[in-house]
Formats: sequence, C-alpha cells, structure tokens
Amino acid sequence: MPAPTHVSPSLISTLPGLSYTDAALFQREQEKIFEARWIAAARSADLDGPGAFRTLDVGRENVILVRGRDGQLRAFLNVCRHRGARVCMERSGVARRNIQCGYHAWTYGLDGKLVAAPNLTQMPDLDRTAYGLVPVPVREWLGYAWVCVADEPPSFEDTVIGAVTERLGGTGIIEGWDIENLEVGRRISYDVRANWKLIIENFMECYHCATIHPELTEVLPEFADGFAAQYFVGHGAAFAEEAEGFTVDGSAGVTVIPGVVDGHDRKYYAITVNPQVFINLVPDHVIFHRMYPVGPDRTVVECDWLYLPEVVRSGQDLDRSVELFHRVNQQDFDACERCQLAATSKAYAQGGVLVPSEHHIGAFHTWVTEQLAM
Ligand code: FES
Ligand code: FE
Repeated sequence: MPAPTHVSPSLISTLPGLSYTDAALFQREQEKIFEARWIAAARSADLDGPGAFRTLDVGRENVILVRGRDGQLRAFLNVCRHRGARVCMERSGVARRNIQCGYHAWTYGLDGKLVAAPNLTQMPDLDRTAYGLVPVPVREWLGYAWVCVADEPPSFEDTVIGAVTERLGGTGIIEGWDIENLEVGRRISYDVRANWKLIIENFMECYHCATIHPELTEVLPEFADGFAAQYFVGHGAAFAEEAEGFTVDGSAGVTVIPGVVDGHDRKYYAITVNPQVFINLVPDHVIFHRMYPVGPDRTVVECDWLYLPEVVRSGQDLDRSVELFHRVNQQDFDACERCQLAATSKAYAQGGVLVPSEHHIGAFHTWVTEQLAM
C-alpha cells in the first residue's frame, strides 16, 4: 500500500510522524525550547524550609532548586565544579547545612558558594569564589518556582505572565483566583508514553471532547460540539444549567474562591503557557499541569488540584472534584498514547490533517518550527 503523499488543499497538514519519534529532533527541541524558556519547576510551598530541595531535568541540564537559610529560593546547575559529577542525586529532600558532592566531598553552601573541600590548604591558588555552583535564574509566580537555563533568559513578563493574560483576552481575571495562596489538595503524576507535542496538541483542541470526555461534556455542553478549543477558552466555557459544580457528577463543589466574581463563577477557563504549563480555572479550584519531557515518546505530567487552604485543612471531600479532571487526564493521555503507537507507521509518514476546529494547532506547529530555527 503506498503511503498517502498529499492532503486536500483546504486542510492544513499536521507534523509528520517522525516529529514525534525522532531522537535527534527531540534533543534539538530540548535545546531550543526547554533550555530556552521559563519552566515551572516546583510548587514553592513544597520547598518549605531551609535546605528543602528538588532536582529536575530542564532540557538536557539537571537543576537543583533549594531554599536558603534566608528563605530565598535559588537554583543551580546540578554539576560539581571539581570533576563534573552530579552533585545531588536525590529527586527531593532536605539538605542539612550544605550540599556536598558524593565523589570527593566538595561542599557548597545553600547559596551555591564553595565552602569546603578536602585538602583545600594544599590548593592555595584555588579561588573558591570562582568555583561555586553555577546559578540559574528563578522567578516565583502563581505559587510556583519557574527557572530558565538559557544564557539570556527571555522576558518572564512577556513569555509567561503576558502569555497567560493574552489567553484570557488581555484581562487580569486570573488574579481573582489568588493562585499563589491556594493549597495543593491533590497531586497526581502521570507517566505518559507519548511525545510532549501530542499532549499540547490534544490540550489545544476539543474536537475529541464528544468522543472521549463524557463526564466533561456533561458539565461543559459547549465542548460537545467540538468547536470550543480549550486553548482559546479565554471567554470561559459556561457550565450546564443543571451542573451545580465542576465535579464528576455535576454535584456541588467546595467553597468558591472569594476573588472569583460574578460572571466567572459558573465558568471554566483554560490557558496554555508554552512549552509545558496548562492551567484550568473553575470557581472553587485551579488545576495546574506541569509537563516534563523524558524522551521522544515519554512525558511526565504533574497535575496539582489547588483549593482554598481552609478547604484543604477542613478535610472536605475533594474526591468528586478531583475525579472529573483526573478522568479527563486519563482519557486525554490514553488518546495521546494511541497516537504515539501509530507515529512510526508509513501511513503517517507525511502526517495527517487539521480539520477547521483544530487549525490553531497549526499556530503551535509554526511556533515550534520558529523556535527550532532560532
Ligand atoms: Fe564533585 Fe569531585 S566531582 S567533589
Ligand atoms: Fe481532552
């Protein structure tokens, strides 16, 4: 069977199958996209005391994010300046006073300075100030610590805050949710056997909603017609008349966030911040996804459900609320994995097509192509 070679001229082609499987392209995306942009690394409150740290891959680098004794969050490349060993091997933990490399015991302060090394007196020429851990810029916004490993980070205001505001039609309504002061009520980590671009593309369209999201379309009926692009729900998607809350069975949710004013109180907003954050706003909670590519065909997605602190501490039942988007996530990631399975087929060598309600995915493909060309 010959592979299809062209598509109808009125339709836009997708990326070819190779874009989702090629190891060399994935490395290039790591360099040109994930090492070039601001990445949401951790919920700030998870690093809640001096010495609390987390390590994560950002592109091809590994970064250690640590809270200092002065309360400040700092980030460093997780590379020992002696012989280049990875300094911290754990994913998270608490460093007592210092960060010590496990190879020859060079020791760094929580501020990254080289404070000690065995036989240091025999190395009078070693300029300790020149051999600290290499710092990485950190910004805190919406209660998350964002890092950027680029030599010259792009403007945080433009590429992160501006992207969110633009998705919401230039309004500042996100401030009403006071996301910084919400608390994690539930966190679920998904190990998805799919390329990161499949996950973004899926998040951007709702052509699939009627097929795979029965619970979501019950609560958000406009998603059932396939035209509402989640990427563009800057106007907010209205709840079904009979839905009392954003829950798996449409029953009432928990206490509404006080800053969420009339007009937004029965709506769902979805925002994508390229390349790895999706935010959903509903009246009583926020669903915050962070995506971490692991390989061309594997991506870890960490999803936080954020509520008012008093709701989390009161022990109110969050299950019906969490269950709705947990199911949506599973349905979406299953779909992405189905696409990944077929991405190597000759039937998809030239890619497929974007129907009109998916055309904005074409803009994402243009964005990726532009980043790779930089
Ligand atoms: Fe870290 Fe030698 S490589 S102390
Ligand atoms: Fe979906």
